[in-house]
Amino acid sequence: MSFPNRVFSGVQPTGNLHLGNYLGAIRNWVPLQDQAETIFCIVDLHALTAPQDPVLLKTQTREVTAAYIAAGIDPERSIIFNQSAVAAHSELSWLLGCYAPLGWLNRMTQFKEKAGKQRDNAVLGLYAYPVLMAADILLYKGTHVPVGEDQKQHLELARDIAGAFNRRYEVEFFPLPEPQILGAATRVMSLRDGTKKMSKSDASDYSRINMTDDADTVALKIQKAKTDPHPLPDTAAALDGRPEADNLLGIYAALAGQTRDQAVARFAGQPFSSFKRELADLSVSVLGPIGAEMKRLVGDPGHIDKILKRGAERAHAIADKVLADTQDIIGLLKP
Ligand code: TYM
Repeated sequence: MSFPNRVFSGVQPTGNLHLGNYLGAIRNWVPLQDQAETIFCIVDLHALTAPQDPVLLKTQTREVTAAYIAAGIDPERSIIFNQSAVAAHSELSWLLGCYAPLGWLNRMTQFKEKAGKQRDNAVLGLYAYPVLMAADILLYKGTHVPVGEDQKQHLELARDIAGAFNRRYEVEFFPLPEPQILGAATRVMSLRDGTKKMSKSDASDYSRINMTDDADTVALKIQKAKTDPHPLPDTAAALDGRPEADNLLGIYAALAGQTRDQAVARFAGQPFSSFKRELADLSVSVLGPIGAEMKRLVGDPGHIDKILKRGAERAHAIADKVLADTQDIIGLLKP
């Protein structure tokens, strides 16, 4: 059976939206609006898997909404809403959890990384995180999920859960959602250590470029970014074993809308100093207007709340029907 193309993706409102979130996810969503129905969620329930300040959580939910819009997501063409505003996410998550064997969840590397050595202190929500993520997508019968590379394993689980449900009831009810890992920077690394992912939670702010950093800060962070002593190579293959050079060239390529090979050819043989100047200029020219627009939008929280409310109404219209059909397939009585 074929399902109409429907794109679903989301970002957690946990603060410090960075270049990885932008290049790995949000930027790639913009052109998809011309190709399919698009639904972009601010996944506030997922954020609760780590402690959150209640006041900040609301502010950050608006900030992520502002980032979507500032980056080019059109609230008319796309549905933009926050996850907790549509209760069906939690309900479907429970149901899907009943088709997800522990063996599948035990394989999730993100849980292992986040729980660390203190596994007994990790909360159930963190463990169940990928099931809620599967529910997010399947609640809209999402077919395509544009994300950074780090989410690939979670997407495989969503496909496995959808398949398990379909087989159990001998239906073709849920599509098997496909990851779309797009652009030249699918895994943006820390500016301080090219072997570590750029992350919201890194203690050093110099490890990442935040979407709201001003021009001077962006330039300074790039200038201070770790490098190696060699000039830039003339083939992409020669980036092997040079994680910092690889990362910075990937960032340049993604920001310029080029392939990695094009970026390599452009800077072949040059020292890092001149490359970094060009990278800083490009970063500022792309991120500057987005950061400024984000700041303008968060200055009017009432406007953002209206967009989210309208988005939640549109999301409800799809989600409530899929949840009701799921319940019916399972045999839950609606007296
Ligand atoms: P979050 O908020 O951690 O990340 C949001 C998006 O940013 C991407 N990303 C990166 N891409 C490249 N390089 C990086 N260093 C980097 N860091 C983050 C992530 O891959 C992601 O696409 N679990 C999801 C949120 C979610 C979701 C969903 C996504 C919940 N439900 C349903 C898609 C569909 C996450 O990682 O959020």
